[in-house]
Amino acid sequence: MPCDALSLDLLVFHIFMSESARKFYDRISDAYDLIADAGEHRARERGLELLAAQPGESILEIGFGTGHSLAELAKAVGPQGHISGVDISQGMRDVAHRHLEQAGCAELVELVVAEVPPLPFDDHRFDAITMSFTLELFPPETIGAVIQECRRVLKPTGRLGVVSMATVDNGDPKSVLERTYIWMHEHFPHIVDCQPIPLEQIIRDAGLRLIEHERISLFTMPVAIIVAAT
Ligand SMILES: C[S@@+](CC[C@H](N)C(=O)[O-])C[C@H]1O[C@@H](n2cnc3c(N)ncnc32)[C@H](O)[C@@H]1O
Repeated sequence: MPCDALSLDLLVFHIFMSESARKFYDRISDAYDLIADAGEHRARERGLELLAAQPGESILEIGFGTGHSLAELAKAVGPQGHISGVDISQGMRDVAHRHLEQAGCAELVELVVAEVPPLPFDDHRFDAITMSFTLELFPPETIGAVIQECRRVLKPTGRLGVVSMATVDNGDPKSVLERTYIWMHEHFPHIVDCQPIPLEQIIRDAGLRLIEHERISLFTMPVAIIVAAT
């Protein structure tokens, strides 16, 4: 196939997938916490502990969902700090805004609705970036671009915190659930939109240094929690 035709195919596939991601998250935004939060909140909260946001810091969350982490981060950085979030879904933005209002910190948080990548922010703006259960949603060929965008908007001393479903460590047999996830993602990507990723390897391949690294189990699936620096 000529290269241009291949690129066009990839572009059409990409537009289809991001449009379907937006519609999917818009549709489930009101029910997201009921569907996912009970399982995911422990890993998400551990990710925030390891990121250790400090008073006065400027922090970005990519794929903020219903806004739980944004509220925690706003408390941690305090009035001298600044929190931004970017998410593809207007529905998620509306739920997150309500959540932040209830937590009394809506005016401290900037919510942007946009598709990532790119990141709609200036270079070297943030002390830290965080993502939970989001990096594994991107097609494998896009993950590198997401991390390079993170590097661009992070300050040179900045840190990147990621929580994601992870592939099993080398040598471990894949769990039935992981094999099911991968099969479902390959055959029905509009239903199962994520797949486990080798997070630590991806981070090292992007030229970043792991400064924190833990794994926990979620319904027998490994979840990697990392903090990286340049
Ligand atoms: C699985 S949810 C995780 C939400 C939240 N981080 C949490 O841990 O509860 C993934 C989030 O990423 C957002 N998202 C998916 N693809 C995106 C993209 N290409 N750009 C920006 N946000 C995206 C979705 O709208 C959704 O809110």
